[in-house]
Amino acid sequence: MDLFRLDGKTALVTGGTRGIGLMIARGLLEAGAARVVISSRKAAAVDEAVAELSKVGGGEVVGVPADLSTEEECLRLAGTVEGPLHILVNNAGATWGAPLEEFPSSAWDKVIDLNLKSPFYLTKALVPRLREAATADDPARIINIGSIDGIMTPGQRYSYTSSKAAVHQLTRVLAKELGPQAITVNAIAPGPFESKMMAATLDAFGEAIAEAVPLKRIGRPDDMAGAAVFLASRAGSYVNGAVIPVDGGLTVA
Ligand SMILES: NC(=O)c1ccc[n+]([C@@H]2O[C@H](COP(=O)([O-])OP(=O)(O)OC[C@H]3O[C@@H](n4cnc5c(N)ncnc54)[C@H](OP(=O)(O)O)[C@@H]3O)[C@@H](O)[C@H]2O)c1
Repeated sequence: MDLFRLDGKTALVTGGTRGIGLMIARGLLEAGAARVVISSRKAAAVDEAVAELSKVGGGEVVGVPADLSTEEECLRLAGTVEGPLHILVNNAGATWGAPLEEFPSSAWDKVIDLNLKSPFYLTKALVPRLREAATADDPARIINIGSIDGIMTPGQRYSYTSSKAAVHQLTRVLAKELGPQAITVNAIAPGPFESKMMAATLDAFGEAIAEAVPLKRIGRPDDMAGAAVFLASRAGSYVNGAVIPVDGGLTVA
């Protein structure tokens, strides 16, 4: 099981205060990570999540509030990271749904700024920290959270589906560029998981969505934690440039 251990590793998880980010932060700690920094906009939510994650035991949990919709804030967050960073999880994201004729330009700015530009700015700023942690045998890891919406063709979420397809492509481009520096870049494309973002959709259509999934259920926290721990650990050292659907088979259904 050493293959999946993260002892001594440091990580930054954006949007780590709830939903998928919290599932991943907890998974990294349970696998032995020594220090996990979580970030989101709301200071109270950050404090609450730090308190919750600290109960996992073992690693230190640190919270840094930041609004990652601007480059300045991405750089400020990156500047708080001292020393080697083994794992960067670009997870913070937002969505927007509206009919074509009503879809506002603000829904493009909000979604693209956070979902696509912020992973780029954070990656760019944190490459020196990741390089410090990286060795040829045990590369540093960047895990971008894409979506099956970036693979499939959902209606009404024009900026969201485009941002996630772009995140998948950015993942491949950066994997090619950063691989020679011993930094892997992969994306997880989640299917349906319980979160604030998905709450209204799952309340309204949860049963139908679960029925459409070949495994007949929505994702569980362990499903997401498992994929992230795999990509962050020695087990995932040779995976680079992959977009991994964690969706119970929904994309192939
Ligand atoms: N849940 C799913 O089924 C699903 C499926 C596919 C992909 N995803 C992806 O998974 C990621 C996490 O989504 P989720 O479902 O867990 O959603 P969520 O519950 O809404 O969580 C989003 C997280 O991002 C933070 N955040 C939002 N805006 C931010 C900003 N401007 N700056 C910094 N942090 C910000 C939120 O905290 P604050 O509000 O405090 O900022 C929160 O921690 C997203 O990239 C999403 O696209 C989710």
